[in-house]
Amino acid sequence: MSLELVTAGESHGPALVAILTGLPAGLTLEKNAVDADLRRRQEGYGRSPRQRIESDEVEVLSGLRHGRTLGTPLALVVRNRDHANWAWGMSPWPPADDPSGKGTKPVTLPRPGHADLAGALKYGLTDVRDALERASARHTAAIVAAGAVAKALLGTIGIEVASNVLGDDLEQRVDAARADRDTVGGVVEVRARGVPPGLGSYATKGDRLDARLAATLMGTQAVKGVEIGDGFALASKRGSEAHDEIHGDQESGLHRETNRAGGIEAGVSNGEEIVVRAAMKPLPTLMRPLASVDLQTGEPGEALVERSDTAAVEALAVVAEACVAWELARAARDKFGGDSLDDFLAAHGAYVERIPWRPH
Ligand SMILES: Cc1cc2nc3c(=O)[nH]c(=O)nc-3n(C[C@H](O)[C@H](O)[C@H](O)COP(=O)(O)O)c2cc1C
Repeated sequence: MSLELVTAGESHGPALVAILTGLPAGLTLEKNAVDADLRRRQEGYGRSPRQRIESDEVEVLSGLRHGRTLGTPLALVVRNRDHANWAWGMSPWPPADDPSGKGTKPVTLPRPGHADLAGALKYGLTDVRDALERASARHTAAIVAAGAVAKALLGTIGIEVASNVLGDDLEQRVDAARADRDTVGGVVEVRARGVPPGLGSYATKGDRLDARLAATLMGTQAVKGVEIGDGFALASKRGSEAHDEIHGDQESGLHRETNRAGGIEAGVSNGEEIVVRAAMKPLPTLMRPLASVDLQTGEPGEALVERSDTAAVEALAVVAEACVAWELARAARDKFGGDSLDDFLAAHGAYVERIPWRPH
């Protein structure tokens, strides 16, 4: 059995949902740890007032008893408090009462860079809201909740995952963009320490750890580029400057003095720190809207303006951390198996004992 995740939920619907299957039984989870990550996702310079309405908190519907996983599907829920303002507009069933609150009028002016036009064309939608509600990054709250669970599993075998934003000029860029009613993006980095060699495989494309990490990060809203280790910079280097020489011996363990590969070779972790970066484009909702075309009338117009972040780079860092944690946990579950946590720990322990590895 492997670790799988499915999420559901709209931005202004009643709640976001994550269902996690394949977790070993006996893993201790702490509500505070999940809530702390949810809170970190909401913070950050440049976020919209929506974050003051929401105060994300995890609810567990199944798979956990007295703080320990049962080995059965773990169902997590994060409620949307803002749904109260959208109860009519986002009612799952046809509303019986008169229109009230937000979302009562169809959106027909798609935003360049968002899901609006692509979704309307693909699914034959007359109200662009039917596309943007799911495409919205609000759904990353469910990913972050799942990532917190993954980090708990990784923590049992000494793996730590952390993230940060690259560049120290974010606040000035956000202030300047906000003053111009514009938006900005940025670059985030995720690092994972304590990852043993051997997670992932070169056997098939889908097993490669680098492919999985790239897919999960590219699968995150607004991410337009991913690099592992020195990534794009390696293209202009010679082999002698690009690869990480192997040192040590069977007794003291093997290790590298450099980590240009970002801890992955041939799609397999090599025992060094995993380093992965994601580039985020500027957010598509501008307070000074870009040109668009009204899908109902065919007339030129200005794209939809609705409450929106100026930047969400710090939030992306937390989401990217969760995504990387999830993929590492999946790869660890694939490698070490384990219906119970004890089985998982025993397999990890025996493996690490067998290989000549000096952790960084
Ligand atoms: C954490 C996070 C918050 C975001 N917040 C906003 C936002 O407030 N306004 C906006 O227009 N886009 C926001 N986005 C980006 C859009 O969700 C994204 O650009 C859109 O869904 C289209 O997908 P794509 O950028 O992957 O093509 C956010 C993305 C992330 C990761």
